[in-house]
Amino acid sequence: MIAYTSRTGNVSFVISKLNLPNIEISDGLHLKVPFLLFTYTDGLGDVPARVSFFMKHNHPYCRGVIVSGNSNFGHDVFGMAGDKLAMEYGIPLICKLDLRGFPQDYEKIVQFYHQYVKEVVT
Ligand SMILES: Cc1cc2nc3c(=O)[nH]c(=O)nc-3n(C[C@H](O)[C@H](O)[C@H](O)COP(=O)(O)O)c2cc1C
Repeated sequence: MIAYTSRTGNVSFVISKLNLPNIEISDGLHLKVPFLLFTYTDGLGDVPARVSFFMKHNHPYCRGVIVSGNSNFGHDVFGMAGDKLAMEYGIPLICKLDLRGFPQDYEKIVQFYHQYVKEVVT
């Protein structure tokens, strides 16, 4: 599963290219399967509030983070939400995309997913 949030559509666009199971983060979402987190960056290198809240309650099943940012914000804060989450929860930062990123980024995400995020099929 990939749990994602998107404000202006870039993350949603990438999600639509991955062909992987996904769910948009909503208030109160509680996942009990391994997942990757996919978020954008807010403020000046900030984690969106909804994502912070979601991770407080769901981090044990999170296997890694993917982040989208805009490199025009400058190197210091580009995609910084991903760095912060990786540090806080001790999870790998799989990919930092500039806006919608590139097909090579999508391949990397899909590869990581198949290697490390096992779906429980019932
Ligand atoms: C108010 C605002 C603040 C932002 N701050 C940052 C930032 O600090 N660092 C960064 O890399 N991108 C920043 N961005 C860019 C977004 O993270 C980037 O456009 C991302 O692709 C948005 O994903 P979405 O279209 O799925 O919402 C900011 C965008 C907005 C609108």
